[in-house]
Amino acid sequence: MQKALRILAAQGLLESRPGVGTFVRAVRAVRANDFGWQTAALGAPNHRIPHLPAALQPAPHDALALHSGYPDRELLPERLVRAAFTRAARTEALIRPPTAGLPDLRSWFAAELESATPTGITPVSPGDVVIIPGSQGGLSTVFRSLVGAGRPLLMESPTYWGAILAAAQVGVHVIPVPSGSGGPDPDALSRAFEQSGARAFYAQPSFASPTGALWTRALADQVVETVRRHGAFLIEDDVAHDFGITADPRPVAALDDAGHVVYLRSLSKSVSPAVRVAGLIARGPARKRILADTQADSMYVSGVLQAVALDVVTQPAWRTHLRRLRQQLKSRRDLLVASLREHAPDARPHTVPQGGLNLWARLPDAVDLERVVRECTSAGVVVGPGNEWFPAEPTGQFVRLSYAGPNPGAFPDGARVIGQVLARSG
Ligand SMILES: Cc1ncc(COP(=O)(O)O)c(C=O)c1O
Repeated sequence: MQKALRILAAQGLLESRPGVGTFVRAVRAVRANDFGWQTAALGAPNHRIPHLPAALQPAPHDALALHSGYPDRELLPERLVRAAFTRAARTEALIRPPTAGLPDLRSWFAAELESATPTGITPVSPGDVVIIPGSQGGLSTVFRSLVGAGRPLLMESPTYWGAILAAAQVGVHVIPVPSGSGGPDPDALSRAFEQSGARAFYAQPSFASPTGALWTRALADQVVETVRRHGAFLIEDDVAHDFGITADPRPVAALDDAGHVVYLRSLSKSVSPAVRVAGLIARGPARKRILADTQADSMYVSGVLQAVALDVVTQPAWRTHLRRLRQQLKSRRDLLVASLREHAPDARPHTVPQGGLNLWARLPDAVDLERVVRECTSAGVVVGPGNEWFPAEPTGQFVRLSYAGPNPGAFPDGARVIGQVLARSG
């Protein structure tokens, strides 16, 4: 009874008058507000206001969600996360952590990168790490601190829509660099640096979203050499670090000790979307600028979330979880690839990715992408429209299909729907 009253009160349906009783709240007359004055106060926006990307839109009930960027609950270390929250509530619930993050979590991020560092290169130290509330905000921070409004930033094309969004929000001038299943074209990258005078390049060397690309060591060396030659930064987004399937991630930051690579590693996809914690690693004055920006923006990250993240990734069972996750992602990926081959041969995965959470599939040039996406949604299959991943004009018709969402058993049916919609559009 008390719980029901609390819920109704929270919904604004009840009001309590102390000493008198609890009453149904009187319904107020609703009139349309006039916000017209804001048009004059705000003026025209100084950058394009992007619409909500498909990946953030909820799927209709019962639909097969092939559009989401976050893994399904069955792929998360649920038991570890729940136990970690219980422990963190006891130790961290009333404490304000240091602005750069809990020292032990910073040490963990540094040790992870150190484990990939070849001999001869000075590894990062915990003092180079800043804990941030998710890597999405970290992208805005880095673009703002290291590039700045109106200045050029090179980006792979296609690339993560959230990076395109963060760049638009900060007002940096994006210069696309063509990228495919093997990563960016190093000659095009060199030319783009020369022509634009850019001092930064945003990229995802391990299992890029959306292409799934994993850079070879030779490409990583070439890119590090290019950024060195141009006195520039590589902004490395290693969001898919924990999602290797048939290969391991290869952090490029491990190959640099001169402060050229600024590295972001998120835990919110692999630990839990409720534990929105990421590590940002930068050396030299760049780190000072980044820390100043994060302090102005969010001051510090909740110590409870940091303690939970640290607790989960330092349990022996975390490694067991990651090994199982590899198998789960492999069978989901293979099932989706086989389902498309059988039922939607016109949706051609550009490659079978060695890691990550999604396929990047090309559709015939003649199809109307918006219509395909709309018709698939009406038939209960939500796909990510590829044009959201291009910082400039799309170079083809693509869809991004996640194999990490709920209900993988429905992949064959989902592919059948995509095949039928494409057959009607062809
Ligand atoms: C490539 C990439 N980078 C960064 C992010 C942001 O992740 P988070 O803010 O949860 O750390 C995402 C999320 O979809 C992503 O796909």
